[in-house]
Amino acid sequence: MKAKDNLVEKIIVALDVAEREKALSLVDELPEVRWFKIGLELFTSCGPSLIEEIKDKGHQIFLDLKLHDIPNTVAGAIRAAVRHGVSMLTLHIFGGREMMLKAREVAQEESQRKGLTSPKLIGVTILTSLNDEDLELLGLKEKIAPQILRLSHLARECGLDGCVCSPQEISLLRQEHGPEWLLITPGVRPAWAASNDQKRILSPAEALNLGASFLVIGRPIIGQPSPRQAFLKLIEELKS
Ligand code: C5P
Repeated sequence: MKAKDNLVEKIIVALDVAEREKALSLVDELPEVRWFKIGLELFTSCGPSLIEEIKDKGHQIFLDLKLHDIPNTVAGAIRAAVRHGVSMLTLHIFGGREMMLKAREVAQEESQRKGLTSPKLIGVTILTSLNDEDLELLGLKEKIAPQILRLSHLARECGLDGCVCSPQEISLLRQEHGPEWLLITPGVRPAWAASNDQKRILSPAEALNLGASFLVIGRPIIGQPSPRQAFLKLIEELKS
C-alpha cells in the first residue's frame, strides 16, 4: 500500500438507513470517519438538510443519487448539491456527453460563485446488478467489460473525475486511466465480516493495493454491534 497515513481518507461509510435519528447517531458514533455516503434511500427519506447537518459535524459528503436526466435538470440538481456543500457525487454516464459536460461546467461555476471547492463528479458505468443478458434486453449488444472501458473514457473526456467500479474492474481501469482518475469501489469485505449479498468481493487491502482510490463500506461497519470498533479495526488492519 502506498500511503499508510491517509487510510481514513479512503474509506467512505455508507449510511444505508432510512431514519434521520439512526443516521445521525451513526455519525456521532463514528467521529474518526472522514467520509459518509448518503444514498437514494436516506436522501429521499430525510432531504438535503441532513447533508448540512453531517457536514457541520466535520465530515465530507459523498452524495450517491446516480443522477440521470436531461442536461438542464441534472445541472439544476448539481447546483443544489454544490450549495449544500457536497464533496463528491454520482451521475450516470448513460446520461450522455452533453449532460456530463454541463454537469462539469455548472459544478465549477456554482462552486466558484460560492467560494467552495468543486465537488468531484463520479460516473456510474453499468450497474453491477445488470448482466450481459439484461443489457441485451435493453438493446445493448456489447459485453459489459468493453462497455465499461468505453464509458469510462467518455466520462474522462467530459471532465468527470472518476467512476464507480467493482473490485474486478480496478486493475483494468487503473491501468487504462493512470494514477489521477478516481476509482470508487463498493463490494469490499474485511475477512471478519459477512459477505451479505455482495458476490464478487475483495478485502479492503486487496482493493487498495490494486489501485482503488476510495472504498465504500456499509454493513461491515454500520451493521456491527460497535460500528466504531469495526471501523478502527479495519483501519488497523489496513495499516498492518
Ligand atoms: O453494506 P455494503 O458494504 O454492501 O454497502 C455497499 C454500498 O455500496 C451500498 O450503499 C450499495 O448501495 C453501494 N453499491 C454496491 N454495489 C454497487 C454499487 C453501489 O454495493 N455496484
